[in-house]
Amino acid sequence: VCRIAKEADVVLVAVSYGLSPEHPYPSQYKQCLAATVHFMRNAEVYGVDPSQIIIFGDSAGGNFTSVVAQQLTKRRDLPKLRAQALIYAGVQAMDFNLPSYVQNATMPLLSQETVIKFILQYFIKDPALKSDILKGSHVPDHYRLKYRKWVSADNIPEKFKRGYREVPLAPYKPEVYKQFPELLEETFSSIFAEDHIIKQLPETFIVTCEYDVFRDDGLLYKKRLEDCGVKVRWFHAEQGFHGVLNFSDLGIFTFPAGVEIVDSIIDFVKGL
Ligand SMILES: *[C@@H]1O[C@H](CO)[C@@H](O)[C@H](O)[C@H]1NC(C)=O
Ligand SMILES: *[C@@H]1O[C@H](CO)[C@@H](O)[C@H](O)[C@H]1NC(C)=O
Ligand SMILES: *[C@@H]1O[C@H](CO)[C@@H](O)[C@H](O)[C@H]1NC(C)=O
Repeated sequence: VCRIAKEADVVLVAVSYGLSPEHPYPSQYKQCLAATVHFMRNAEVYGVDPSQIIIFGDSAGGNFTSVVAQQLTKRRDLPKLRAQALIYAGVQAMDFNLPSYVQNATMPLLSQETVIKFILQYFIKDPALKSDILKGSHVPDHYRLKYRKWVSADNIPEKFKRGYREVPLAPYKPEVYKQFPELLEETFSSIFAEDHIIKQLPETFIVTCEYDVFRDDGLLYKKRLEDCGVKVRWFHAEQGFHGVLNFSDLGIFTFPAGVEIVDSIIDFVKGL
């Protein structure tokens, strides 16, 4: 992160948001939004031009970044964001059996099951709900109809599928959905925001990693934005895995994919 600040020559502010269980959903995105709004209003104090603000996050931070960018489109009292950068972010909690979820289901650091476990912890819900969520029983039929055009293996380029066979969502169970309908709302699953919001998003940088369950979330969000006319730049780390950014500055334990991602972010920022 220091390298991004130095080499891209930017003022960098990190939001330290509260964690669950003391701070369950939705406090994270709200804290990030409040911090961003505060910074936008006071940017000049930090020598920053308020029209040049970029928000950025990796992993869960990428989820919050995508939600904050959408919420900011509703604010007429603030300058437009210059850009957002989403590094292996999850953007949907409807289908946990997309090709990347199936292909890299057992990856260390973030497996298919860990994603669901984190979600349940985040909402402070019964861990026994895991298998129903994994299978998609929490998704009402009207949402399946509405959202399939945005979240489906059909929207994943062929070269990423590698013999993938579609796993249909299991039958809907209202009692599971009722536990936390927020899962499918845009403040958690940002890909489900309406077109008029998506169309107002700033230029976006998306990083995906080959060995990451969230790879396809990134690919789907890229398509969703492009279909709405948003300018997207994309970097795919062929050797990357979820969390690799944390291994970009560890001496002999450095993973080249982590360095590549940092380079790509610097490049994006300098190109704006
Ligand atoms: C946001 O990120 C967290 C942590 O990586 C993950 O558990 C969650 O599934 C993500 N949200 C969505 C909507 O994918
Ligand atoms: C992750 O997915 C890739 C294909 O995208 C596959 O080659 C690799 O073996 C998978 N890794 C694990 C640990 O499942
Ligand atoms: C990266 O490291 C930070 C600090 O140790 C940790 O909080 C975060 O969960 C890690 N990110 C990923 C995606 O593993």
